[in-house]
Amino acid sequence: MTSLSIKSVFFLTLAVGFTPSFAGAAAGPALEGDLGPPVGPPIHAILTAPPNVPPPIHRKHPAKVIVELEVRELEKEISEGVRYTFWTFGGTTPGSFIRVRQGDTVEFHLKNHPDNKMPHNIDLHGVVGPGGGAASSFTAPGHESQFTFKALHQGIYVYHCATSPVGMHIANGMYGLMLVEPPEGLKPVDHEYYVMQGDFYTVGKYREKGLQAFDMQKAIDEKPTYVLFNGSESSLIGDNALTAKVGEKVRLFIGNGGPNLVSSFHMIGEIFDKVWFEGGTRYQENVQTTLIPSGGAAIAEFHTVVPGSFVIVDHSIFRAFNKGALGIFKVTGEENKLVYSGKEVDSVYLGDKAESLAAVGQAATATAEGRLSLEEQVKAGEALFTGTCSVCHQPNGQGIEGAFPPLAGSDLLAATPKRAIPIALNGLTGPVTVNGKTFNSVMPPMSQLNDDEIANILTYVTHSWGNKGIEPYTAAEIKAIRDSTARPAGAAN
Ligand code: CU
Repeated sequence: MTSLSIKSVFFLTLAVGFTPSFAGAAAGPALEGDLGPPVGPPIHAILTAPPNVPPPIHRKHPAKVIVELEVRELEKEISEGVRYTFWTFGGTTPGSFIRVRQGDTVEFHLKNHPDNKMPHNIDLHGVVGPGGGAASSFTAPGHESQFTFKALHQGIYVYHCATSPVGMHIANGMYGLMLVEPPEGLKPVDHEYYVMQGDFYTVGKYREKGLQAFDMQKAIDEKPTYVLFNGSESSLIGDNALTAKVGEKVRLFIGNGGPNLVSSFHMIGEIFDKVWFEGGTRYQENVQTTLIPSGGAAIAEFHTVVPGSFVIVDHSIFRAFNKGALGIFKVTGEENKLVYSGKEVDSVYLGDKAESLAAVGQAATATAEGRLSLEEQVKAGEALFTGTCSVCHQPNGQGIEGAFPPLAGSDLLAATPKRAIPIALNGLTGPVTVNGKTFNSVMPPMSQLNDDEIANILTYVTHSWGNKGIEPYTAAEIKAIRDSTARPAGAAN
């Protein structure tokens, strides 16, 4: 042994001998991240439903924190007029937000509601231990499991169900976030929000109405029907939009439950001041889009400068406009024309979310009950037209001179109303004459729309802007044309 290594051993022994008494509960060397035994009476954790986050922890010492999380299997709306049976932690997808402090001793109770059909458990990525708690928490319906862990690492962590088939439990919405605050806490901000992405697999196609079953083959093939923030197409739009005022600081806790896709998380028209990428301890600055892996999370902070609707998307952009991964962050307050001179709402990015889609859901319910009225059909069609057709044909149906034919007062529509069905489904290329003017543009096939959506849009068009005397379109007649005509190569089906 050299003199250098003898010195090292001596120094190490000395260091262990000087370990401060508060650092470890039991005998032996202190664990990294262990801030000592819990102090004071046990605390019951406040759990919140998304997009809300429990209040900051101002404690200066570790505590025993009791978390009581109940699994509920619930049928809820996944899109307007579309129902899905979610398996949830705490009644929501994503599940309840859990907030503890580094060094806390967490007594975890997992309850499986007696009405549930399946066994469940929980794997918390913030837990150091086999399965992240999964093995200790397998719970049959009507039962409860309990285990305890010490939150050694600070950060933002995903939790999820890990009961076989694991992918199916996650795909049904069983994931959420747990924040382990650093001992000194996080810097105060004006708003904290909880947003978590997930991909969903239904037997019916996107926006096909009614109760939809889980599609295992689509999940295995990684071909989701929906990609959503907070478990529903409407969770972050309309009255559910996230809000702030100009000049405020905002912190987002962003997770991705998967089960399959990674998220290119982006907020149109904002730049994140800081992103704690991968939920870790370092941050990157001035970030446009941050990658959130499946089973991963991040913390993003930004400050608001100008008012408006800022659109939250997965920038794998078909997911935003054709699978539902779109939310709104609504900022109110004074304009600042020096920073941005444009109009307040950018309808290009809002798509059909600019209008409330409630009418679409009402029409779906009425159809299912066999009492769809003309008025309901027209209202649903208007909401869908706004998102899909109004960019070219214009919100007032006037079209654009020399480019896109008018739908308002259209002689073509009046003379051959049924021709609108194959045009909507299969597109139109080549010259067409409307009201004495010839247009030679390309209308792409809109076959990604469902039969009822096309029926409602065409009924809206033929009952608006002076168009009169045409029978409402039915989903059945759209289906008949869909089945008997060919789509152009590459069209949706
Ligand atoms: Cu489960």
